[in-house]
Amino acid sequence: MHTIASITHELSGLPADQGLAWVSRQFKNVAFSSALGEEDQIITHLISTQHLPIEIFTLDTGRLFAESYDLLDLTRKKYQRPITTYFPDSTTVEAWINANGINAFYDSVENRKECCNIRKVQPLRRALAKADVWVTGLRGQQSANRQQMARVEWDHQMNLIKYNPLLEWTDEEMRHFISHHHIPVNPLHKKGYVSIGCAPCTRAILPGEDSRAGRWWWETSAKECGLHETHVKK
Ligand code: ADX
Ligand code: SF4
Repeated sequence: MHTIASITHELSGLPADQGLAWVSRQFKNVAFSSALGEEDQIITHLISTQHLPIEIFTLDTGRLFAESYDLLDLTRKKYQRPITTYFPDSTTVEAWINANGINAFYDSVENRKECCNIRKVQPLRRALAKADVWVTGLRGQQSANRQQMARVEWDHQMNLIKYNPLLEWTDEEMRHFISHHHIPVNPLHKKGYVSIGCAPCTRAILPGEDSRAGRWWWETSAKECGLHETHVKK
């Protein structure tokens, strides 16, 4: 019987490629959520090149950048792997937009969180309904909040094991791996977009700014959309 402590112990000495292979042998349903970020592209590469039985899926909020859709298509073709798309419930999106406006997320943090809830968190629940383990591309260097996370965690919201194989990777290690393996990434990164989410809620950052400063830039919150638990003051 696996516990968070025993899985942590097993995975603590394993690099990301071997860790992913290990979880795919130990658990029946392992699912990886890809936001098509640099970290996610590395994990897709590791899963695909090792032919691991891990489902790769993405949450299409309906508000992504055109460049992100192009990258999704390119990645699917390059690795010859299905990347399942989960979409928000259309009736709920329609009702919310008709009541609040198409860009209501700018009006209040409450609205923004509700939009993320409808377009990301609820579809994530569907995507993970059968999963035993949820793999993500979270990295500690992305923010103060993410520095508090562990490589293996119990996710209380989704009620499953969460595995963050790249949690301790530095920016430098990540970029080196990408260029060494010719991994396709979003062309917006070169234009100063470090962390990329929905188009209306993402802007480029200035040199020296926190990597997540461009996400919901008008807010001073912990800059999380609700997919991941918040460890610092909101
Ligand atoms: S976010 O939660 O604020 O959007 P970020 O874009 O840094 O976070 O992504 C962190 C991790 O959350 C990704 O590596 C991925 O596992 C998951 N994630 C975030 N957005 C999506 C998405 N649209 N589709 C699938 N996974 C996502
Ligand atoms: Fe809505 Fe913005 Fe959240 Fe995307 S990031 S789901 S557009 S509030």
